[in-house]
Amino acid sequence: MTTGETLLVTGGAGYVGSHCVAELRARGHRVVVLDNLQQGHRAAVPTDVPFVAGDLADAALLRRVFAEHRIGAVLHFAANSLVGESMRDPFKYVGDNVTNALNLLRAAVDAGTRRFVLSSTANLFGTPERTPIDETVTIDPGSPYGESKFIVERMLHWADRVYGLRFACLRYFNAAGAHPDGTLGEDHDPETHLIPIVLDAALGKRSHVEIFGDDYATPDGTCVRDYVHVCDLADAHVKALDLLATRSGHFNLGNGQGYSVKQVIEAARRVTGRDIAVKVGPRRPGDPATLVAASARAMSELGWTPRFPDLDAIVRTAWEWKRRHPDGYGD
Ligand SMILES: NC(=O)c1ccc[n+]([C@@H]2O[C@H](COP(=O)([O-])OP(=O)(O)OC[C@H]3O[C@@H](n4cnc5c(N)ncnc54)[C@H](O)[C@@H]3O)[C@@H](O)[C@H]2O)c1
Repeated sequence: MTTGETLLVTGGAGYVGSHCVAELRARGHRVVVLDNLQQGHRAAVPTDVPFVAGDLADAALLRRVFAEHRIGAVLHFAANSLVGESMRDPFKYVGDNVTNALNLLRAAVDAGTRRFVLSSTANLFGTPERTPIDETVTIDPGSPYGESKFIVERMLHWADRVYGLRFACLRYFNAAGAHPDGTLGEDHDPETHLIPIVLDAALGKRSHVEIFGDDYATPDGTCVRDYVHVCDLADAHVKALDLLATRSGHFNLGNGQGYSVKQVIEAARRVTGRDIAVKVGPRRPGDPATLVAASARAMSELGWTPRFPDLDAIVRTAWEWKRRHPDGYGD
């Protein structure tokens, strides 16, 4: 950490961003959060953290933020991130996500900020040629959302070459769980992620969980994903900042262990002790059968070791959050 610097966290009122803000502060970093609250929650950001309510489309606002704070590094979480929506409205994704990142990069470079961490995604790999997916697997985005992240990754590559801006592209697999202290968790509208949906069914807020296809080439026919705890992702960001002292890099972040939709529902039944009704529906277009990360590079080069690799432990933290906050942040 460089003394006197502030870290700019875009999307710091959102799910992963808010956990990262907590982790950065626990390690003594000073942060400023910029978020337009389209998905985020003001209550997810502590009141003593400077908060800029604004949109990344506002280039003048970004210039002001960089002028007012000595921004040593940017952690860029803010994006539209619904795969399904991006298949219906591709220009919103390739348009806004790329333009907003470009505004941010321009402001950073102009202000002399030379470190940048991007929230990237497993969707970069579409239907991968092999699994577990390491960083050498061919990139062939599975949606306009994934494409927008890939374009931003490429912009970062050129910002490094031309301006010496060091970057870390962190390709998360399925972010899951909640802060173990019960104060932060997942609260999206609409909610598209499996674990909060399953826990809403356990709470009785949904009548059932729909399984999108049970005829995939997986052991029980349902899709297999790699669930990685949100606090482990936050930890990877802190470690990525250290790496940027010397160089840039790309890292796939997961536990290297896949769980099927049915296994996640079983885990939720075990953890909650409640009944969870399921209905099997048709496949969703574009869902690959299996997405599991190979994170050996993050482990060896970032020194990253997930603290919550166990699915039940992940679900337990998410359940604690849900039980205490059945209506999320309540806004
Ligand atoms: N959650 C996952 O499983 C997952 C997986 C892979 C990648 N990612 C990526 O990680 C990042 C964070 O994901 P998340 O689940 O926390 O999402 P989120 O929607 O909870 O958080 C994103 C935050 O950014 C804010 N935001 C969006 N557009 C903005 C804009 N134009 N200006 C200012 N603020 C804006 C939202 O209000 C929200 O608070 C995203 O970039 C997402 O694409 C997430």
